[in-house]
Amino acid sequence: MCGIVGYLGPKQAYPILIDGLKRLEYRGYDSAGIATLEDKATLRIEKKQGKVANLEAHVGNEKPKGTVGIGHTRWATHGPPNDINAHPHAGGQGHLAVIHNGIIENYEALRELLTHRGHNLVSETDTEVLAHFIEEVQLTTGLDLPDAVRTALKEVVGAYALVVLDQRHPDRLIAARKSSPLVIGVGQDNEFFVGSDATPIVAYTKNVIYLEDEEVATMHRSGELTIRTIGDAVVTPEIHAIELEMASLEKAGYDHFMLKEIFEQPKSIRDSIRGRIRIHAGESTVSGVDDHWEVWSQAKRILILGCGTSWHAGLVAEYLFEGLARIPVEVEYASEFRYRNPIVRSDDVVVAISQSGETADTLAAIRLAKDQGAHVFGVCNVVGSSIARETHAGAYTHAGPEIGVASTKAFTAQVAVLTVLAMHVGHRLGTLEDQQFMRLMTGLDNIPGLVEKVLDNAGIIEHIAKKFAGSDNALYLGRGYQFPVALEGALKLKEISYIHAEGYPAAEMKHGPIALIDEAMPVVFIATQDEVYEKVVSNIQEVKARGGQILAIVTEGDSKVRSLADHVLEIPKVDDALAPLLTVIPMQILSYHIALMRGCDVDQPRNLAKSVTVE
Ligand code: G6P
Repeated sequence: MCGIVGYLGPKQAYPILIDGLKRLEYRGYDSAGIATLEDKATLRIEKKQGKVANLEAHVGNEKPKGTVGIGHTRWATHGPPNDINAHPHAGGQGHLAVIHNGIIENYEALRELLTHRGHNLVSETDTEVLAHFIEEVQLTTGLDLPDAVRTALKEVVGAYALVVLDQRHPDRLIAARKSSPLVIGVGQDNEFFVGSDATPIVAYTKNVIYLEDEEVATMHRSGELTIRTIGDAVVTPEIHAIELEMASLEKAGYDHFMLKEIFEQPKSIRDSIRGRIRIHAGESTVSGVDDHWEVWSQAKRILILGCGTSWHAGLVAEYLFEGLARIPVEVEYASEFRYRNPIVRSDDVVVAISQSGETADTLAAIRLAKDQGAHVFGVCNVVGSSIARETHAGAYTHAGPEIGVASTKAFTAQVAVLTVLAMHVGHRLGTLEDQQFMRLMTGLDNIPGLVEKVLDNAGIIEHIAKKFAGSDNALYLGRGYQFPVALEGALKLKEISYIHAEGYPAAEMKHGPIALIDEAMPVVFIATQDEVYEKVVSNIQEVKARGGQILAIVTEGDSKVRSLADHVLEIPKVDDALAPLLTVIPMQILSYHIALMRGCDVDQPRNLAKSVTVE
């Protein structure tokens, strides 16, 4: 949420900042802005409501010059998206500019104090308060900029990743973080890059430093980098090599990142299970579990935490862990869990699921669980992310960068990893017998090929999408393993097409949603031939009797549902536990086409952001 980019070095900053902002735009696109130091002396701030393209158009041929600068793409929290509230924000004297991601919780008290001292704040943002406050500390204490930033941050309550540029110090860039991510890239020729993540940096350098909470970094044009905590302890920077490839950040000929990511799923699932299941050896390996087997073998309960799509993957995992490993599971929205005074015991294993590894609520929930003595296992996609670093152990999903705001390949990669995890734990505990274990391993190994087969039917799904594109509402129903998939299907549709959609357990339909059914209501049923097939068929009959438009996702060769539904989409027959990896694919494609037909911005749907680093 909110993207931050910075540059200091020998090159012109503007093109680097604009390129970086475009790569970070998935974090928010309410406004974009940059600040550079022209002639190493004059602070020039340009900012515009809307996407980075608006900023570029606004700047036109008058491109800002200078070899140091900062840039920001906003997801609005305090104050509506407009030019004034766009970042960067200047201090009152106009020599200092700040970009910020996070929320300053005590900004009202700080604003009052500053107003009292004669500061004139023009925006509604908490960030402008921060800029003025740093300036006020500089003025009243005479401290050098890095010390003034540290001193100011001691008074700040909340979350921040920020970068400060000061025209009186054209050779320095100051960056700080607490609870919001910030990465520093160390390039050749004494140059530094700053990013909310590595995506704006990777084109220039693969050497990065992940700033930790309450650390303040001072980058100098001489190539010197110093990091101190806000409490003034010196920190030795640790350089990590990132493996991200530029090609994975491009659309590769697809019209949208979302479509590219949908079609990447055979590979991303394959990459996520590779090395973890070894069919010939009849074994699985999850080192993050094996290294802590004592904890797993004695776990009385598994507590799964996540938000959004990751929470849906967690619901699938509930069925998997209870079915295969016979350990009781609770799945919690991280945001609810952390504010509920939850009971966490030392014999709980917490599984935290997050694509970005930066979701503020999930991170806070993990910290709470750790404080209460639980072992925390992370399932993250972004290598080196905060959640990946703060959990005791974990398993990465190897989905590669996911840029489309609506999650697709990250979901299937999460479900694939969680399937391996549940199988592995079940097999080691002895609740999953060898034969069933082998069957599931072989089945999982076949999934990437079967996903390809489902993707081959994308054309039929596009055709069906035409029938539903004009709807105002939609209902998604499934049972058992398919209930979380119904939720995910509904979420995909509402996220990108703005059609109101609800996911429900099919059997619960008669306790409410059935009242919504009429000829105008599309109902998507997941009616695969599993344990609850016959029950779902009855639910389909109930909808049909009331005139609802039925789209059913069925097992290849099904004739019963075909005779009832208006449209059917087939998926190959697989084990019930593996079916979510296939049934979700047509739902993703359906949403994509419906959104396109409605003229929606598929990759950057309104009001959403990919990485939600605020509460
Ligand atoms: C946002 C994204 C969703 C994502 C959720 C959780 O809402 O738009 O796609 O599922 O955050 O994000 P995480 O990175 O923790 O999986």
